[in-house]
Amino acid sequence: MDKLKILIAASEVVPFAKSGGLADVAGALPKALRKLGHDVRVVMPRYYIVDREKYGLKPMAGSLGVPMGVIGEEWASVYEGVLPGSDVPIYFIEHERYFGRKGLYDENGIAFSDNDNRFIFLSRAAMQLAKKLRFKPDIIHANDWHTSAMPIFLNTVYAQDPDFEYTASVLSIHNLQHQGKFYKGAMDVLGIGWEHFTADELEEYDGINLLKGGIVHSNAINAVSKKYADEIQTPEFGWGLENLISHYSYKLFGILNGVDYEEWSPAVDTLIPSNYDIDTMAGKKICKQALQKTFNLPQREDVPVIGLVGRLAEQKGITLLAEAIGGLLEMDIQIILLGTGEGWAEHFFSNIASIYPEKFGTYIGYRNDLAHLIEAGSDFFLMPSLFEPCGLNQIYSLRYGTLPIVRATGGLDDTIDNYQPYTGRGDGFKFYEASAEALYGTVKWAVDTYYDDKEGMMHLVKNAMQKRFSWEIAAESYEEMYRFALSQRFGISKKRN
Ligand code: ADP
Ligand code: GLC
Repeated sequence: MDKLKILIAASEVVPFAKSGGLADVAGALPKALRKLGHDVRVVMPRYYIVDREKYGLKPMAGSLGVPMGVIGEEWASVYEGVLPGSDVPIYFIEHERYFGRKGLYDENGIAFSDNDNRFIFLSRAAMQLAKKLRFKPDIIHANDWHTSAMPIFLNTVYAQDPDFEYTASVLSIHNLQHQGKFYKGAMDVLGIGWEHFTADELEEYDGINLLKGGIVHSNAINAVSKKYADEIQTPEFGWGLENLISHYSYKLFGILNGVDYEEWSPAVDTLIPSNYDIDTMAGKKICKQALQKTFNLPQREDVPVIGLVGRLAEQKGITLLAEAIGGLLEMDIQIILLGTGEGWAEHFFSNIASIYPEKFGTYIGYRNDLAHLIEAGSDFFLMPSLFEPCGLNQIYSLRYGTLPIVRATGGLDDTIDNYQPYTGRGDGFKFYEASAEALYGTVKWAVDTYYDDKEGMMHLVKNAMQKRFSWEIAAESYEEMYRFALSQRFGISKKRN
């Protein structure tokens, strides 16, 4: 089949800038699509933390004009590089006033007040860049609310533009909680006309909702796991958009994220003290020791270590953990937490670490090397999320033989098979109710298994390490979705010349 030209835009991309899983996906999916032969280009902002020298980024000649409605035309510089380990071009939109900042979205937990303009700018710049490059995409692929204006622009300001004559649009929803809701004045910055400020397009409670507009205007939507695609059509997980999403369910997909196993495999991981694999597990013990040492915990081989890595946000079930932690720490276990986020949680868990120095280790902050060490050195990995569109850490954990203990929601439910003691099947431990009791009970079950069911543990670890969620397979599903989007937009008869 003919190969596609795909323009992917995202607010964060590994390894250049990352706050969560979106960056992992935006860094890995393009490479997998490239391996299928497609011509993929990626666009992201040039934040201060994007190191131009380290990645050998080159300035593109000329500047990029970006119409910003009532603000007028803004000008950006563009830097060009490649996604490491590939020939996929990535373009960085540089604009001092919008992106010349330390934070991606906020500073000290307070969102930038001009995030509407910043990301409308990014979305419009991505479209303008395609024109400048004379890259006529078959697909523009937006991610989350930040780039949701792209499908909106395609249907409005570029509707008659010959450069986008054969272009269809796709939107990935990585997290429905964040929708890009702003004061309606942002309509004038979009510059698409107030006729689109209606309840069935961009308007919500007299404000603008960019993600909503993206859902309406894109030709296909992906919700990063099958279960999450179902969940977001219900009031519990829909954040007010459940009816709209149900209405558009005919174009809704649930393609599960893959994992970049070149980065997240104990056999090749360069960030852990000893490599190991399913047949050479001795290295895992060395990692466990190093982990305990790093977090100043007693270096005991016989104690189960439970790791947690993630944004300290309500979504991640940190309130359940906070409620359960006292009881959990009565068991003979060690818990290690790496995270940053809500202030109360940072204080609370630091405090727990000082009360239980022998049992609870924490690092408040963002550290990729520690994330790898925790994956490798822990026996279990806890994700008690209230909702989880896909979740990547539990998938990494499987590969490291670190058994996930998860709440059965979204991608956590889709990727983890519950342990069945009588058959030896399964690769983790699940609970269903969002309660501290259920969390406690399931950790207890895992810990009991660790101490009393060595054979069961062996099966679990083996099953976990053999499971794969490769991007190669996910990328094929993306290709199908792209072709679906094209057929939605053009039917089957219209073909590019
Ligand atoms: P989300 O995108 O909701 O944050 P995911 O599980 O999809 O959740 O992805 C989180 C990613 O961010 C993982 O790669 C994880 O290792 C990483 N991560 C999150 N918090 C930290 C941290 N404090 N330090 C290092 N890596 C982190
Ligand atoms: C989001 C979700 C997470 C998902 C990631 C990548 O941030 O919270 O579950 O894995 O995006 O799709």
